[in-house]
Amino acid sequence: MGPVYSGGMKGIVLAGGSGTRLYPMTRAANKQLLPVYNKPMVYYPLTTMMLAGCRDILLVVNPQDLETYRRLFGDGAQWGLNISYATQPKPGGIAEVFLIGREFVGTSRVGLILGDNLFYGDSLPTVAERGATGSGAFVYAYWVSDPQAYGVVEFDAAGQPASIVEKPKNPRSNWAVTGLYFYDADVCDVATQIPRSARGELEISDINAHYLKAGRLTVEKLGRGYAWLDTGTPSSLLKAAQFVETVEDRQGLQIGSPEEVAWRMGYIDDGAFERLIEPIRGSEYGKYLQRLLAMR
Ligand code: DAU
Repeated sequence: MGPVYSGGMKGIVLAGGSGTRLYPMTRAANKQLLPVYNKPMVYYPLTTMMLAGCRDILLVVNPQDLETYRRLFGDGAQWGLNISYATQPKPGGIAEVFLIGREFVGTSRVGLILGDNLFYGDSLPTVAERGATGSGAFVYAYWVSDPQAYGVVEFDAAGQPASIVEKPKNPRSNWAVTGLYFYDADVCDVATQIPRSARGELEISDINAHYLKAGRLTVEKLGRGYAWLDTGTPSSLLKAAQFVETVEDRQGLQIGSPEEVAWRMGYIDDGAFERLIEPIRGSEYGKYLQRLLAMR
């Protein structure tokens, strides 16, 4: 076990929800535990948070999945993290995490990533770090062909955000707001002030619109050199898996490995990395991690 890190930037990974669009795959299994090619879906957003420099992480899950997630991650010390858990009794909206996680957030700046969001791109750590070290609210926009499925941000002539609307029927732009967000600690108060939407949820887009109105929202556009993939439908889940397989096969390098990220970020040393590999030597994954050590 590595040393447990505490203090600094906090990160929340939201991995609850009902996964209705993926039924019957989600009848017994939580959506974020489904595989995206060779890893559980939640590994991808978790490693994005780790790359942003977040080591103090709260995992928000459905009550019935708590034990499974504990089995998957433990207290995170094996990866140089400090992982704690909270439950969301039912899917009442993404912004509920700031009511559930108020104590965890305390007075820190906090990152939030949705458990079904997969990001890929060369300078992603630097991009995410800008949000982590910024002020107010900091979100990312990505050009998509189907903006009506997302929170949509409209930019004015000066390139500044002008509006944010959740799943608009007539989107004012193709810029979707991604599932990676950073806020000052006051987001927990903001979450108590916004009303529930027509679908009965505390909407993250309403939080962002609140910061926009206060002139405290930064939106950074992710260019075409990034991949932001959706895993919400059977088809998009398969496409995400194929994307990961294509890149990993071509490079012989994996996307979304917490062991690798922990080691590369210096959250664990060589000895701790070797101890993680030992029991999984026989697996393809274990062999991959072993190769990394040998290449160093
Ligand atoms: O992926 C980005 C989009 O995520 C944003 O553009 C939207 O503004 C935002 O509302 C959200 O839209 P989705 O329709 O994709 O949200 P969904 O209900 O699918 O939830 C996203 C993830 O968060 C999903 O993996 C389950 C989890 N979740 C969701 C809700 C509403 C929870 O754990 N609890 C919840 O209450």
